[in-house]
Amino acid sequence: MSTASPVKIAGIGISLLAIIIIGACAAPPGDPETGKKWYTMHNCGSCHGPNGYDGKAVSIAGLDMGFGSFVRKLRKTDASIMPPFPESKISEQDAAEIYAYLKSLKEP
Ligand code: HEC
Repeated sequence: MSTASPVKIAGIGISLLAIIIIGACAAPPGDPETGKKWYTMHNCGSCHGPNGYDGKAVSIAGLDMGFGSFVRKLRKTDASIMPPFPESKISEQDAAEIYAYLKSLKEP
């Protein structure tokens, strides 16, 4: 009656590893208040609106994407009119603050 086969144990190990790796890709902690300052300073609001949803460009209030995707969009946007924001303009940490701010916004 051996239930814990080596295969099962390996499976559990791989699952744990996956959880750890996914955890590492999560957004670093950001402060929405600081994020709001960056959002204003980098003029995101001129296209996305002062509240993230009320601009000419697509709504980013509440942002339905992971931090990794968000940073990729910032660095190299698919939008022809959205300027790219390289690390020299918006650091990983600043991006985390903006991400936290956008997550805190709600589309009415
Ligand atoms: C010049 C106008 C402009 C500025 C400035 C701008 N954006 Fe954008 N952004 C756009 C447009 C247009 C899109 C839509 C791209 C598309 O067609 O999906 C977009 C897309 C995005 C997306 C992807 C949204 C999605 O759901 O796919 C994010 C995230 C984003 N912008 C964040 C920002 C942030 C943060 C800033 C400021 C640092 C910023 N943008 C500044 C115009 C702009």
